[in-house]
Amino acid sequence: MKAADCPNREDRDRFEGQRQAEFIEKIRELVRETEFETGRKLRSTVVTFGCQMNARDSEKLRGILAEAGFQDTDLEEEADIILYNTCTVRENADQHVYGRLGKLTGIKRGRPGLIVGLCGCMMQEEHVVAKIRKSYPVVDLIFGTHNLFTFPELLYRRMTEKKRIVELWDGTDAIVENLPVSRKYAFKSGVNVMFGCNNFCSYCIVPYVRGRERSRRPQDILDEIRALAADGVREIMLLGQNVNSYGKGLPEKVTFAQLLTEAAAIPGIERIRFMTSHPKDLSDDLIEAIAENEKICRHFHLPVQSGSSRILEIMNRHYSREDYLRLVEKIRSRIPDISLTTDIIVGFPGETEEDFEDTLSLVREVSYDSAFTFIYSKRTGTPAARMPEQIPDNVVHERFDRLLALVKETGEKACSRFEGRTMDVLVEEVNKEPGYVTGRISHNLTVHLPGTAGDIGKIVPVKLNDCRGFYYFGTRL
Ligand code: SAH
Ligand code: SF4
Ligand code: F3S
Repeated sequence: MKAADCPNREDRDRFEGQRQAEFIEKIRELVRETEFETGRKLRSTVVTFGCQMNARDSEKLRGILAEAGFQDTDLEEEADIILYNTCTVRENADQHVYGRLGKLTGIKRGRPGLIVGLCGCMMQEEHVVAKIRKSYPVVDLIFGTHNLFTFPELLYRRMTEKKRIVELWDGTDAIVENLPVSRKYAFKSGVNVMFGCNNFCSYCIVPYVRGRERSRRPQDILDEIRALAADGVREIMLLGQNVNSYGKGLPEKVTFAQLLTEAAAIPGIERIRFMTSHPKDLSDDLIEAIAENEKICRHFHLPVQSGSSRILEIMNRHYSREDYLRLVEKIRSRIPDISLTTDIIVGFPGETEEDFEDTLSLVREVSYDSAFTFIYSKRTGTPAARMPEQIPDNVVHERFDRLLALVKETGEKACSRFEGRTMDVLVEEVNKEPGYVTGRISHNLTVHLPGTAGDIGKIVPVKLNDCRGFYYFGTRL
């Protein structure tokens, strides 16, 4: 049987999953043979650039490599396969990858058997792939975001055909479930609820490189969370470019608020987070779901991008400054101490000093716990890249510095609101400071506290004694 013969999409995707599992088996054979010949273990490394969605994809890539018999390593110098999972949301992300490829060219001269692979969002841009084909012979394997699940097949082909393999798709409606996954953290995990984006904000490349929005079936998501809980995961982060439009196009009627509530009810799951919700379609049901359920974290990442209604309109964000402020008010009146964080772009084409001051005043008014601030980056193919009034670098940098100073000042004040309170901290890692560990409260603020590696993954009550800017030092009760 061929995938094309399958009667419906789900059967086809299941069939494809089985086909890839067979390639994993074949690679395993090759790995075994090579290990036998060389007398040493084969190793692989996956380097992630970009957002949480890319990080989750990397866990799948790592899972496939582990299943195929490669040992995971963080060290590129000892790896037999190096895979860069790239991001292209801003220009500097691209530059970073080119820089690292330059270095790998030298390394590969000394290690001809090394396989270098590139995947992720940058590979969905034709001009990038053309440049790599021409100027970076060090790269052996290229695939994109739409065919990530074919990685076993492509790697097998690279290992057997010994020539450069490039396979890129323009889009896909496939959602292949049950790929092997190798998690970075034992106690927490991201879970995709949807892929792609339909919003086409005028500055953003994501819809072009990630394709149209596709939601996973709720049963698949909940089954994955149940399996994670059984494996010791306590915190889940539901992932999508705009989780508020979850469920569109599915045969069952389901909203994100319903999914979140069902996920939170799964035994063993103590905390649920989500990312990202677009302010344009955040529902009252979602606010209600959070307010009523202690397991859903008290944190909203609510990217505003600009405080100027004029700029928001040109950005194609579908809300005004006033809509956004009303939404903040509504959230705060229902969940008073909730943490709000945001993303802001400085220097969008045509941004005047007045527009920028609207952004500053909005930051003051909302009083975010923290904000990711970005200098506008021109992305080929987006409408904003063709807008005439690109802002000069010196003006953008000056504005950026002013915004950063304000975010620091207002953020530090906002974050200190829990000083003296006792709150539950999920311990995430050991601190560089000996005898200390670091974790997070439901509101997403970082807390350093006395502890050891044995505390990782535990939820402990901590008195938040001392706020030092954006984080706390606490004592255990
Ligand atoms: N889907 C998410 C954002 C994903 S991209 C949302 O809409 O909220 C993460 C952030 O990168 C965006 O919120 C935006 O602030 C920033 N960003 C996207 N494109 C950019 C560009 N061309 N230049 C600068 N920052 C950009
Ligand atoms: Fe980009 Fe807008 Fe989609 Fe976010 S919602 S990924 S900013 S197009
Ligand atoms: Fe970057 Fe792709 Fe995420 S462009 S921000 S890795 S969706």
